[in-house]
Amino acid sequence: MNDPKAFVAAAVEQLRASVPGRTIVAASGGIDSTAAALLAQRALGERARAVFVDTGLLRAGEVERVGELYRASGLAHRTVEASERFLSSLKGVRDPERKRKRIGAAFIHLFEEQAAEFGTDRLVQGTIAPDWIESGGALRDTIKTHHNVGGIPRSSRLVLVEPLRDLYKDEVRAVARELGIPEADRQPFPGPGLAVRVHGAVDRERLRRARVANAVVEEEVERAVAARTMARPWQYFAVLLDASTVGVTGDNRVHGDAVSVRVVESVDAMTATAAAVPHAVLAAIARRITRELPGEVVRVLYDVTDKPPATIEWE
Ligand code: XMP
Repeated sequence: MNDPKAFVAAAVEQLRASVPGRTIVAASGGIDSTAAALLAQRALGERARAVFVDTGLLRAGEVERVGELYRASGLAHRTVEASERFLSSLKGVRDPERKRKRIGAAFIHLFEEQAAEFGTDRLVQGTIAPDWIESGGALRDTIKTHHNVGGIPRSSRLVLVEPLRDLYKDEVRAVARELGIPEADRQPFPGPGLAVRVHGAVDRERLRRARVANAVVEEEVERAVAARTMARPWQYFAVLLDASTVGVTGDNRVHGDAVSVRVVESVDAMTATAAAVPHAVLAAIARRITRELPGEVVRVLYDVTDKPPATIEWE
């Protein structure tokens, strides 16, 4: 793909051919699914309905931000609040693969209901090439199951339509710009949300900690970028680790959580290098996370591993 305009025209034609009636679109607020949703809207008009799910696994302020992004992009959509359903499906689940499968199943059941209500069996998704390659497509081993690929139960009757499935991330960004999506350079966020940034068991309490830590990393990195202390990295976030560790508050020794900060440079997410973040920025992040989560998070680490051998996310 080296001509975004030609790609958009071909994708619109292809969508018209693949969707004879109506379709729903799985819209997550990320660049991939926003581009897929706008392509579907361009091809099908009101026969495409974008559905954005508040899973309870989103970042601070994300529902409002996504609403604004869709309004600015001219994307008609509906928002469905389903946090209880997602959190109860994750209860007691620690294994990353099972988490992704549970989340995938919760999404699919919800989209099946939405599709039935809209009178269709089609679902447009923003799946891109690294999603299915890493989910064991093209005869590779499964590195991980992306929730929007391998998590779909075989019994589902939804017919998937994936207009971006041959594109890599940098190509999707070019298409997003062509479609007039603002903020097309915003960092990626995984479909399973903060569930894969809570290492181990996920509950509301641990999600809250991960949400605060992620907001601090985003704000401090963006502050440093605005102050020209560093260039904007490709991706930057925090992971709440599944490790109880000792800290001190006042005169007391306490047991708290540890958080790992991850900042990487990449082009297409297939490989990445750990970014050389200025120490002052890391120190500011550590101070704020421990101050905003007193006694809850007592240790902050910086992950210096490249991909490979690590992945970008921890799970
Ligand atoms: P990894 O951790 O595999 O991540 O090196 C590569 C890129 O993909 C994002 N990511 C996901 N995106 N569904 C998504 O839509 C997923 O299940 C998923 N897992 C990881 C990750 O944030 C990084 O940008």
